[in-house]
Amino acid sequence: MAESMHDLKRTHCCGELSAANVGEKVTIMGWVQKNRNKGGLVFVDVRDRSGIIQIVCDEANTDTALLEKAASLRAEYVVAVVGEVAKRSGAVNDKIATGEIEILPSELRILSEAQTPPFPIEENSKTKEDVRLKYRYLDLRRPDLQRNLMLRSRVMTLTRQFFAEEGFLEVETPMLGKSTPEGARDYLVPSRIHPGSFYGLPQSPQLYKQLLMCSGFDRYIQIARCFRDEDLRADRQPEFTQIDMELSFVDVDDVIDVNERYLAKLFKEVLDVDVQLPIQRMTWQEAMDRFGSDKPDLRFGMELKDVTDVVKGCGFGVFTGAIENGGSVRGINAKGQGAMPRKKIDKLTAFVKDYGAKGLAYIALQEDGTEKSSFAKFMTEEEMAALIAAMDGEPGDLLLFAADKNKVVWDSLGALRVELAKELGLLDKNEFRFVWITEFPQFEWSEEQGRFVAMHHPFTMPMEEDLPFLESDPGKVRAKAYDIVLNGNEIGGGSVRIFQDDVQERMFEALGFTKEQAYSQFGFLLDAFKYGVPPHAGLAYGLDRLVMLMAKQDSIRDVIAFPKVKDASCLMTEAPGMVDEKQLAELGLETKPEEE
Ligand code: AMO
Ligand code: AMP
Repeated sequence: MAESMHDLKRTHCCGELSAANVGEKVTIMGWVQKNRNKGGLVFVDVRDRSGIIQIVCDEANTDTALLEKAASLRAEYVVAVVGEVAKRSGAVNDKIATGEIEILPSELRILSEAQTPPFPIEENSKTKEDVRLKYRYLDLRRPDLQRNLMLRSRVMTLTRQFFAEEGFLEVETPMLGKSTPEGARDYLVPSRIHPGSFYGLPQSPQLYKQLLMCSGFDRYIQIARCFRDEDLRADRQPEFTQIDMELSFVDVDDVIDVNERYLAKLFKEVLDVDVQLPIQRMTWQEAMDRFGSDKPDLRFGMELKDVTDVVKGCGFGVFTGAIENGGSVRGINAKGQGAMPRKKIDKLTAFVKDYGAKGLAYIALQEDGTEKSSFAKFMTEEEMAALIAAMDGEPGDLLLFAADKNKVVWDSLGALRVELAKELGLLDKNEFRFVWITEFPQFEWSEEQGRFVAMHHPFTMPMEEDLPFLESDPGKVRAKAYDIVLNGNEIGGGSVRIFQDDVQERMFEALGFTKEQAYSQFGFLLDAFKYGVPPHAGLAYGLDRLVMLMAKQDSIRDVIAFPKVKDASCLMTEAPGMVDEKQLAELGLETKPEEE
């Protein structure tokens, strides 16, 4: 039966108490972690989000009723304990902060009883994630998740503080707006007052923040919720949070400067990690050539090598065929992996096929100077020797090659490089390697749509020297765009914006918009540009990804209180759900039964 907490007032959180409080009378409240009854001696661990404290009832100095009550406690009961802090009579527990002390209770109240939870509330839970997410409110009692969310809160506080001190203004932008073109599908909200019309939930506050620059707000920041209807992965959620900013009268270096100081301060204060400034910069081209990725993980080497020139005219048709088709042949050297069993190499081959590769050619250099290779039979001895030399191959190394269009080669070897690093244990979560990626291509060719699409978004300024190619050779145009990458994760991205309406119109044209389409979608922005617009630039971080890395987690779900699962549903609330006919009728909507 639940008791009242009337006339009791909590004096301390559990984890706040230490040897300095010995002799004090305190009142703590929290959840029973566990209780051990040793007959005449009952130990109860009480937990709140600050930590755990041990309560000891000894029949020698506790009255029988209290002792019995303590013995009756079960996991997750909510209790209030009044008592005196004492040095531990038993062994000190140096695993917990309060390990030197315990509370000798004079009063114990059960504020709420609890059913046995469907899984134990403990760190590094072994319980399957879908069970934990169904009972997320219990899962969130786990100390590791609580630490993650406390870290997230601290990051948000420090972020607001830092940017406020730098003269940024926090402005909120609408959730119910017009769809923004960040490249994903929009979430739509039907309008009741305008049947058949829909609001688009923001994929980012992009257009609004540019309008705020037009209005003269100069430096804007917002911790903004964004919505994107795309396929989910460990680092993607349908709704996520950005640290979003925009600045006026600036260029690339200004945005990078303030953000480097921000990152350095954040990592120092939260993790006591020193970020070396300036952060390294790398062009997109260099990142692709060396790492096969525009978000290279620089914690380890294993760089890609372009061996196209070396194997040109060799006897292996897979290589020469790819080159004739305008592609390339590149390889990575997995140092010391020459003894990798064939089965494992086959697994790697299957792995790269997910990235579009048709195969993975290999040379396994044996310690005895011989070699095993999937294509040696097509090559002369000289050709093999030249290829091995080009890869700096030494006895004991494993050389892996992909031959295809550049994009396929980069994607597959880039992913393979990280996969191998994972398997070889080269990724240290305590090491933080930042890099800015700059000079992105303005456009990428979409096979699906048969046209160029914006790699960043249509408001990104091309590099001045590339402007003349906007019409004649769009593929060659580089953008004033930059991403900030941490340990192989894109934690943020941004660009200098187009602020001249003629350039903006040329951009829309290059993207295949007619003037009418451009105006119907973004007319308000193009109009705004006609009334005096400052040059401006900005950036947005994925807060969830940033916090995930700071908390040394593998999934952003572990730093989001109530995340969605892969199919974008919430296992706890069962959202999305059906609505009744009346609601649909009000919105002028009808649903069609799902087709088989
Ligand atoms: P971008 O689309 O690169 O840029 O988004 C910025 C950052 O947001 C994070 N992010 C995500 N995080 C979790 N789940 C998702 N589905 C998701 N999608 C993106 C990434 C990414 O780097 N308006 C521009 C920014 C600008 O130009 O100022 C924008 O939204 O970490
Ligand atoms: P095959 O001649 O198809 O038996 O292939 C010989 C070797 O080349 C095998 O190890 C294949 O995995 C590999 N291979 C096939 N296509 C490619 C490709 N596009 N790039 C790299 N290796 C390939």
